[in-house]
Amino acid sequence: MALRITVIGTGYLGATHAAAMAELGFEVLGLDIVPEKIEMLSAGRVPMYEPGLEEILKKHVAGIEGSSGRLRFTTSWEEVAEFGDVHFVCTNTPQKHGEYACDMSYVESAFDSLAPLLTRPVLVVGKSTVPVGSAARLAARLAELAPVGEGAELAWNPEFLREGFAVNDTLHPDRIVVGVESERAEKLLREVYAGPLAEGSPFVVTDFPTAELVKTSANSFLATKISFINAMAEVCEAADGDVVKLAEAIGHDERIGKKFLRAGIGFGGGCLPKDIRAFMARAGELGADQALTFLREVDSINMRRRGHMVELAREAVGGSSFLGKRVAVLGATFKPDSDDVRDSPALNVAGQIHLQGGQVTVFDPKGMDNARRLFPTLGYADTALDAVRGADVVLHLTEWREFRELDPEALGEAVGRRIILDGRNALDPAVWRGAGWTYRAMGRPKA
Ligand code: UDX
Repeated sequence: MALRITVIGTGYLGATHAAAMAELGFEVLGLDIVPEKIEMLSAGRVPMYEPGLEEILKKHVAGIEGSSGRLRFTTSWEEVAEFGDVHFVCTNTPQKHGEYACDMSYVESAFDSLAPLLTRPVLVVGKSTVPVGSAARLAARLAELAPVGEGAELAWNPEFLREGFAVNDTLHPDRIVVGVESERAEKLLREVYAGPLAEGSPFVVTDFPTAELVKTSANSFLATKISFINAMAEVCEAADGDVVKLAEAIGHDERIGKKFLRAGIGFGGGCLPKDIRAFMARAGELGADQALTFLREVDSINMRRRGHMVELAREAVGGSSFLGKRVAVLGATFKPDSDDVRDSPALNVAGQIHLQGGQVTVFDPKGMDNARRLFPTLGYADTALDAVRGADVVLHLTEWREFRELDPEALGEAVGRRIILDGRNALDPAVWRGAGWTYRAMGRPKA
């Protein structure tokens, strides 16, 4: 009989994984402890903005006309334990309040809820990003709490999906990494991922600690690449060089590569910032903190970018203070094609300017509701044009396609002064300057 799959936790990772598993042909049951999420998902609606996810969900959620009916959602742990042969744990692991370490409480409570109900042999697969060493601890706990004992086996299978590309990244992964302790676990996971494997996705089999480390080291590498190019942007600014040209030129070297070399206000979101911090905290616990001291610098370069954008904006409005100045902010999400505002550099910059007395008006194509919830005291507008009305300076902080397609002439009519600061190096300087704007970007010559 075909494997039956459950997915525990239906955030970005879980909702996408559940839909993708149904797309691959499995019967899938998703669980979340938040009933409102389950109601939405059961109606084929996604609680966040993720391109393509709703379509694939509607294709499979039971009860939707024309769907395969392979995908259902529940809040019942009993139902999940009864249903699944393979249980994917996709709960989130945010940064602990006031600490660098990662908060494991959602993962741990998922194991504690599921394990006592496991009465037949199953595979539990952790997908969350966790500190190295967690899988070994959770495997022991699972065997201890499950009535079936060691018949409830653990595997660790980190997920590398990017927001905005979640569906594609899940169905066509660059690689599948599995940390396993038995041939049975490996065999089951090969069965689960037969579709992508048939398409040629590499399958890397390893032990628990390596599987956990692959994820945190991949994210650390990406963060380092971004901070590297942002450090070069600082030097370029001091030396009157152009970081965009520099990135292009070094990127031609295949050993370096072109990707993730876009200088600007830096990285944010629910993963890179908290993952490098949790990694440093864990290395400290292991007595290997010296190995990761460079990540502190990566973090510090990244946070400096936000402050630098605030400085450039202050300079643009006269140099001394934001009091009485109107600042338009285009972009609130941490990156385009997402409604996620967690640790968003754009909102951080907007918030800093607001706290310094600026009159800030924000517009974002998809992130307005989340931004309003997080920063209720900022001003918000319904369109980019409304956001820039009367502005003394316009800040471009998230590189949505909509912003690249703005007409500098039309916007120029609405603003108080034609000054735009490009925090993402994504607009065409010639076009903006050609329309009479003072265009300034990070790490590029002033004119
Ligand atoms: C990241 C990893 O890419 C993904 O593999 C992992 O599973 C989760 O964390 P995500 O958080 O969705 O994915 O965003 P990503 O596309 O990596 O971008 C992260 C941040 O870096 C964004 O704020 C983005 O604007 C910024 N960034 C990215 C840059 O500033 N410059 C770049 O060149 C690339």
